[in-house]
Amino acid sequence: MGKFTEEINRRRTFAIISHPDAGKTTLTEKFLLYGGAINLAGSVKGKATARHAVSDWMEIEKERGISVTSSVLQFEYDGFCINILDTPGHQDFSEDTYRTLMAADSAVMVIDASKGVEAQTRKLFKVCGMRGIPIFTFINKMDRDAKDTFDLLDDIEKELGIATCPVNWPIGSGKEFKGIYDRNEKCVISYADTEKGTKEGTATRIPLSEEERLREMIGQEPVDKLLEEIELLDGASAEFDLELVRAGGLTPVCFGSALTNFGVEIFLKHFLEMTTTPLPRKADIGLVDPVENEFSAFVFKIQANMNKAHRDRIAFMRICSGKFDASMEVRHVQGGKVLRLSQPQQIMADERKILSEAYAGDIIGVFDPGIFSIGDTLCMPKEKFQYEGIPTFAPEHFARVRQVDTMKRKQFVKGIEQIAQEGAIQIFQEFNTGLEEIIVGVVGVLQFDVLKYRLENEYNVEIRLENLPYEHIRWIENQDEVNVEKLTGTSDMKKVRDMKGNPLLLFINSWSIGMTLDRNKGLVLTEFGR
Ligand code: G4P
Repeated sequence: MGKFTEEINRRRTFAIISHPDAGKTTLTEKFLLYGGAINLAGSVKGKATARHAVSDWMEIEKERGISVTSSVLQFEYDGFCINILDTPGHQDFSEDTYRTLMAADSAVMVIDASKGVEAQTRKLFKVCGMRGIPIFTFINKMDRDAKDTFDLLDDIEKELGIATCPVNWPIGSGKEFKGIYDRNEKCVISYADTEKGTKEGTATRIPLSEEERLREMIGQEPVDKLLEEIELLDGASAEFDLELVRAGGLTPVCFGSALTNFGVEIFLKHFLEMTTTPLPRKADIGLVDPVENEFSAFVFKIQANMNKAHRDRIAFMRICSGKFDASMEVRHVQGGKVLRLSQPQQIMADERKILSEAYAGDIIGVFDPGIFSIGDTLCMPKEKFQYEGIPTFAPEHFARVRQVDTMKRKQFVKGIEQIAQEGAIQIFQEFNTGLEEIIVGVVGVLQFDVLKYRLENEYNVEIRLENLPYEHIRWIENQDEVNVEKLTGTSDMKKVRDMKGNPLLLFINSWSIGMTLDRNKGLVLTEFGR
């Protein structure tokens, strides 16, 4: 195997998803610690603390002490080159969070053991499900009182509709947390808290066959309970099936405590064993294999003003095939131009480094003079294919937006259109009157503040937002076959158009959607735009 193939095959690119506070950041920090990327378990995006002072891209980030943007981290572990796509860890996440999943080959789902599946996990999971990527579950915070283990698994199966296969099994929780039982190796790994900043505690491995030693070590009762649970589990849980895991139908589950760094490396090892190398990606010429083809990539995120001093715009792209070399020329298919990507860089948390080469599986950020759009394809100059587009995700919050100073209409429209083009917000117009009234839709309400802030700071336009009560949006799948003017909906329904002129329906209640479908036979609605 040549170096080229080897480089691609050792890459693993995944996203971490969780509900805020489940421990995603803590887990990421521990991963990095194993990779030696940072010396101490410091902070990757330490909340209101130190590193935020470094991030210069948006005041809001500093003011609120949260990370608005997703970052990419790369580290080496055990011969693997790992790319982690971090997603904003706040309730107010945006469409970027969803799009990040479009660039990942698998997802790690972090669940708080005392809470089980929560709202945001559910939403993100839906997107993973749509792509059929493998999902690996880490049930965190076992050092705190947890829900019953069987209930937790049941919760995942029922709430998310994915079968579970525990790779290991926890022994107690909270003050009574004794460790985990490795089902494959049939041994118990006893829990040992670590001193903060060190790699790991002195966990002891005891084979289940050495029952006496086990009883001495972790106590009579926990061992009895464990033996009982193992029996139950072996009889009840789904058979391990790697193919099903890779198709996203079965999630391997590990337990541990990211904070005390217990079970993290075990999880990482299992995860790396089971997850995939960079996957082929669908294009209009069929599947593009990462190894068989020369360089290609697609843009999944555009971020403006990462560096205010330069007013720059960075386009993030996922390399799908081949090798990227900073000196090469590439074709920007949608723009119809052959160009050299300027200042290709790897964005590591808050730091950036210029890179000279990268391989399929990697994420690079390039300076964007305003030519790229989300979903654009880049490939070799002699080629011209396009990757399948990234769907538009349904916004859940809507507001009518007006500029305060009516004289600034032009800047206002230009600003709002540009911000929409970057994919931070979606804009809609009234069904009949057009752009006179602009309605903004966002996935997370924080984007409203981002919009207001950016229009004021970058375009010098003050705006007023009037919240609208709609929560559900549907595109009309068969718009050519229905007469939208004549649609009879419910009283809470509003007709609008997106910027391409496609008709859409907004609803306050989800039951109104069903009602509207009932009243208009043949109407087909969809949650994802084109
Ligand atoms: P997030 O990125 O998913 O939002 O979660 P994050 O890692 O920031 O963790 C949220 C809180 O949960 C943090 O506490 C963190 O220390 C704690 N935590 C994470 N993993 C574990 C664990 O395994 N066990 C326990 N007991 N706690 C855990 P915080 O007080 O909100 O923040 P901080 O002040 O400690 O930074």
